[in-house]
Amino acid sequence: MTYDLLVIGSGPGGYVAAIRAAQLGLSTAVVEKDERFGGTCLNIGCIPSKALLDSSELYARLRRGGARGDGSGGYDLESHGIKIGRLALDLQTMMARKQQVVEKLTSGVAQLFKGNGIQTFRGVGRLVDSGRVEVSSADGKKQTLSAKNIVLATGSVPAALPIFPVGKDGFLTSTEALSLKSVPARMVVIGAGAIGLELGSVWARLGAEVTVIELLDQILPGMDSEISRRMRSILGKQGLEIATGTRVLGYEKAGKSGSGRAKPSTGAGGKSASGKGGAAGSGGVILTAEGKDGRKQQFPADAVLVAVGRRPYSEGLGLAELGVKTEERSGRILVDDRFQSSLAGLYAIGDLIPGPMLAHKAEEEGIAVVEILAGRAGELNYEAIPSVVYTWPEVASVGKSEEQLKREGVDYNKGTFPFRANGRALAMASEDGLVKILADKRTDRVLGVHIAGPWASDLIAEAVSVMEFGGSAEDIARTVHAHPTLPEALREAALAVDGRAIHVLNRKRR
Ligand code: NAI
Repeated sequence: MTYDLLVIGSGPGGYVAAIRAAQLGLSTAVVEKDERFGGTCLNIGCIPSKALLDSSELYARLRRGGARGDGSGGYDLESHGIKIGRLALDLQTMMARKQQVVEKLTSGVAQLFKGNGIQTFRGVGRLVDSGRVEVSSADGKKQTLSAKNIVLATGSVPAALPIFPVGKDGFLTSTEALSLKSVPARMVVIGAGAIGLELGSVWARLGAEVTVIELLDQILPGMDSEISRRMRSILGKQGLEIATGTRVLGYEKAGKSGSGRAKPSTGAGGKSASGKGGAAGSGGVILTAEGKDGRKQQFPADAVLVAVGRRPYSEGLGLAELGVKTEERSGRILVDDRFQSSLAGLYAIGDLIPGPMLAHKAEEEGIAVVEILAGRAGELNYEAIPSVVYTWPEVASVGKSEEQLKREGVDYNKGTFPFRANGRALAMASEDGLVKILADKRTDRVLGVHIAGPWASDLIAEAVSVMEFGGSAEDIARTVHAHPTLPEALREAALAVDGRAIHVLNRKRR
């Protein structure tokens, strides 16, 4: 038969596209090479990392203890009137729980496919032409499927640094870093993006000495720099060592005799190997890096997570053979505003095409492309795509950063509000961070919202909705927010745009 739609890849982009297509009455098939549906996000990305982030945060809060407000993010259980016995880590059980979460969600996708009458094919898909896909399954069998339209949703894979042999000498990608069998004594993370900070946080909370090395001058490059600076300070207090403006030049294996001990640190971010474990006796490597001032530093590590970005995964699809146009530098597939590639009938979404590599962006593109194919108006607003980093506290943002507005010459008002002045944040001992709202100086329209704070991932949804409706800071300020809740911090930041926050002193009074 000839399907109305064939989707290659069952990650958040692909599976959502397939479900929406079935809802719209299109005969739909999905080709997936992996054993489980759900792609990177559900199997080796967002979901398992969030499971480990939750488990490790629980453990770390109990392990850190600490007085309330000392900045360590620990639970001072005694002040809550709670006493517990000895704290211990059972990493195997933590990993098993993570896997259960993954299995629940991935089998949920399988059920949704079945319930929506979507045909599924296990194997690697390769385009024969714009209407046919050859599927090669693991047992060597091949079959060719026909479809009126094909949507490519094969996602991305970790980008490699040629000098580092991932899979050898303790070098890991995010995939391996989600399944380590023991806590490394010392982990170096290369890249202070979302993956580096999230997985760096996981292993630091579980007891590793973690150093994050970032090439650029700030962590989370691209993020509003006030938020980025605040997060650097908060993560530093949690024990994450961070070296920005630092380029890793290479590495050597540490000798078993102890040559893996760190050389004395020579600059900011250099870390002594004092404390636990270490490369001595356990192999490991010593990374050599160079700061902006040309000073060399050495970083011993038992595990090195390379988190320097991802690249589109289009190997073996047959794009070049069919002359499908891609961006030269990034390899991303070039599509028009209907997500159609240079080959008629062939569409692409998600990490394969330009734009932020985010699961929710892929999902919305999956829905949009299918609605377009079904003759409806499918679109998404690229100006209002939230992005979240699931450290603790979390970081979330939508719209323009202050630096972007300055670069674009847009006049804006700014309102900030610290979580330490929010009753709910204080009650839950999570008072680190702030909300920052940037609004057009002339119209008061919200142009950007940036949050570092507890459950920023949830708080940002209100800001996204306001921006979708073209709302103003005053709209947020005049909206009744329940008390005591974290979203009140957003309202107070909106009031502060106009110099009239209630629970902090305003610099400009209105
Ligand atoms: P990223 O692009 O977010 O960050 C990579 C970092 O590595 C950047 O800060 C970059 O300056 C740095 N870098 C690049 N080359 C380097 C070098 N040679 N030495 C030191 N630093 C270097 O990429 P990441 O964290 O690997 O994530 C990949 C993609 O997955 C991103 O698009 C990210 O948005 C997405 N993702 C999103 C998550 C979320 O929404 N919470 C979680 C995980 C990933």
